[in-house]
Amino acid sequence: MVRRRTSIHGEWSSRWAFVLAATGSAVGLGNIWKFPYITGENGGGAFVLVYLLCIAIIGIPIMMAEVMIGRRGRQSPVNTMYNLGIEAGSTSHWKWLGWLGVVGGFLILSYYSVIAGWALDYIFKTAAGTFTNANAEFVSRTFGHFINSPATLLFWHTVFMLMTMVVVAKGVNGGLEKAVRFLMPSLFVLLVIMVGYAISTGEFMRGLAFLFEPNFDNLLYKHEAGGQFILNTDGEKIFTLEYVLIAMGHAFFTLSLGMGAIMIYGSYLPHNASIAKTSFMIAAADTAVALLAGMAIFPVVFANQLDPGKGPGLIFETLPLAFGNMPGGMFFGTLFFILLVFAAWSSSISLIEPAVAWLVENKNMKRVSASVIMGIACWLVGVLTVLSFNVWKNVHPIDFWVFKNKTFFDVLDYLTANIMLPLGGLAIAIFSVWIMSRSSTSDELDMKENTFAYNLWYFMTRYVTTIAVLVVFANLVGLI
Ligand code: PFF
Repeated sequence: MVRRRTSIHGEWSSRWAFVLAATGSAVGLGNIWKFPYITGENGGGAFVLVYLLCIAIIGIPIMMAEVMIGRRGRQSPVNTMYNLGIEAGSTSHWKWLGWLGVVGGFLILSYYSVIAGWALDYIFKTAAGTFTNANAEFVSRTFGHFINSPATLLFWHTVFMLMTMVVVAKGVNGGLEKAVRFLMPSLFVLLVIMVGYAISTGEFMRGLAFLFEPNFDNLLYKHEAGGQFILNTDGEKIFTLEYVLIAMGHAFFTLSLGMGAIMIYGSYLPHNASIAKTSFMIAAADTAVALLAGMAIFPVVFANQLDPGKGPGLIFETLPLAFGNMPGGMFFGTLFFILLVFAAWSSSISLIEPAVAWLVENKNMKRVSASVIMGIACWLVGVLTVLSFNVWKNVHPIDFWVFKNKTFFDVLDYLTANIMLPLGGLAIAIFSVWIMSRSSTSDELDMKENTFAYNLWYFMTRYVTTIAVLVVFANLVGLI
């Protein structure tokens, strides 16, 4: 058996610190901004069902595998994969999996920061009473105006990137723990209040039906965002697993899986913590937040005759309506956007941590310099996203295959969430059950070999997860 390592970056003070930090990483814009708008674009119920299934049968096993690998390796994902590859008698080329994550996290943060910037701006808009008694037309116009100003978007993107870098420079196990401890419950309570308002709109049941009544045609046949099926020359609907891929990609995105973020948090995890229990808790909290957000938003969409397939602006064009018209809305609205920024903040830190940890380990850099370099580089790439919503909204940089008609932002989002993360997750699954030995995985997971729980994890990871991801990818590249 291999001697257990310790991390040079420090360790969480307890298992709870890890749960909080990992939940902080998981719960973010993915739950509150992305989940509702992609659910709207992809027709609701069936999409949500597949997303939930993906969380249960792919997300949880891969989360366990990723935390386990992180704790065994105790270094940045690149070095962890390098060492564990050799330790398992395979090759050091597994380090490329670490690299996939470093690049993926970097690219995600570049646009994540821009969207978090929108939430920052909306704190001030809401606090200033902009939305008091507003109607749908006004809220839409306000958002349109905002998004059309590259300078404003750039300003908030800069502020958010600075916020992220300050925390990363200090090291992840400082204030993060405290912030998340207070943030998560508050966000939860606020979402419940917003669901309360959604009930009062009179369209709550319609919102629920949209979220939970599956219509598989919407999922399995090509359609425009939010409606209209696309037909082939014979006038028939065109089968695709692309929306299944989007649901699966989102399961990875929302749980922060497939790119080493959870792996690096796992590397700071003390040895007495149960990985299975913590993974369940994190996945459950994350899913609850997303579903509450959906329940708060869709009734408002229908009560105001808005289009659920509006795209990335969806929450910014619906929630202000709720805040503008509910009692205490100015207060709750301001608080909501503050909490959303916090949630995004605790996620953004984990996006860049693998890259920073690698610079510290391999290039002998100080955390501060590593953070500054990464921050500036990431900020620069973020400019592409800023411009995607205005000056370059008709620019389609890679105009073929799945990237057809996509802006820079769309391309970055698709490439990272729907390709890189599932690919990373697949590699993590393969590594943990085909390359690592059963004795080292059971030892690190703190599960006895041949117990039901261990065998369940092993079976899911070895067959279900791997095959599911492969089938969806095979469809994407036209093999099936
Ligand atoms: N899970 C985060 C969210 O849902 O907003 C986003 C994210 C963070 C994705 C960290 C990937 C990651 F490694």
